[in-house]
Amino acid sequence: MFKKLQDKWKVNGLNLLLILFTFAIGGSLCGYAGRKILIWTNLEKNLLWFILYIILITILWPVCVLLVSYPFGQFAFFKRYLQRIWNRMKGKKNQTNNRVPLIRIAIFASGAGSNAEKIIGHFNSSNSVKVALIISNRPKAGVLQIARNNNIETDVITSQQLQDSDTFIASLKAHKIDFLILAGFLLKIPPALVQAYPKKIINIHPALLPAYGGKGMYGMHVHEAVIASGDKQSGISIHYVDELYDHGEIIFQATCDILPKDNPQSLAEKVHQLEHAHYPAIIEAVVKKQNPG
Ligand code: GRF
Repeated sequence: MFKKLQDKWKVNGLNLLLILFTFAIGGSLCGYAGRKILIWTNLEKNLLWFILYIILITILWPVCVLLVSYPFGQFAFFKRYLQRIWNRMKGKKNQTNNRVPLIRIAIFASGAGSNAEKIIGHFNSSNSVKVALIISNRPKAGVLQIARNNNIETDVITSQQLQDSDTFIASLKAHKIDFLILAGFLLKIPPALVQAYPKKIINIHPALLPAYGGKGMYGMHVHEAVIASGDKQSGISIHYVDELYDHGEIIFQATCDILPKDNPQSLAEKVHQLEHAHYPAIIEAVVKKQNPG
C-alpha cells in the first residue's frame, strides 16, 4: 500500500512519511479547532451541533494541513494536492452541467516517452482533456512505465494488430478516444485509421519538414542527416498524419540554430527541448479548437 502511494504521489519514502504525519496531525488539529469553536458558541450537542461541526472541519481541514505541512517541508505537495481536489470538484460540476465535454486522447509511443511524459504532466490537472490510453508496440518501452506511474491504461500492440484496422478502431472507440497523439511511434499508421480519425491524428517530427522526413527518417538518423548537410538550422514539425510518412498538413514549426560545434547528439538535445516546450501546448490548442468547450 505504501509503495502504491509512493508511486501515485511520486515521492520517496521519507516524504511519504512526512505527508502521512501531516495528514494525521493536520486532521487532529482541525478536529480540535472545530470543537473549540463550537464550545464558544455554547450550542447543545444535538443534530445541529454535528452538522455545524462537519461544515466547520470541512472548511478548516485544508487550512490545518497547509499549516502543518509547512514545518514538515511538504507545503508544495499539499498545495498541489488541494489544487487537484479543487479542480476535480470544479470538473465534476462542469461535467454535470455538460458545459465542458471531456476530450480523451491516446498517446502512441515506441521509446523512452519523454514527450509523452510532458503531455501527461500538461493535462494532469485539466478538466477538459484527459490522457486516457498509452499505446506502444514495444513491451519494454520506457513510456509504459511512465503510464503506470501515472495510472494510465496501457495497450501493447503488434504491427499485425495495428493493421487489423477494424478491430483496432473498435477498441479505440470502446475507450472513447477522440485524438491520437504520436510521440515517437515507429509503426506506420494504416490508411483505415487515418480515415477513421481525420485531422485527429497528430505527430511530431524532429526536423523541419518537408526536409528530412519519410521512411527511415527517425531518431538519430534525422539529426545525423541534418548535421551532414551543413544546415544552419533545424527544429520541430508538428503535423496532422495522413497516409504517407511525415507528409500531412503542418500545424506548427519551431527552429533552433545549429552551431559549428554541434553534433547529432547535441542537436538531438536541442530538438528535444523544443519538443517538450511546444508539443503539449499545440496539442491542447488543436484539440480544443476542434472540440470547443
Ligand atoms: C522525438 O524526437 C520525436 O520527435 C520523434 O521521436 C522522438 C521521441 O522521443 N517522433 P521521446 O521518446 O518522446 O523521448
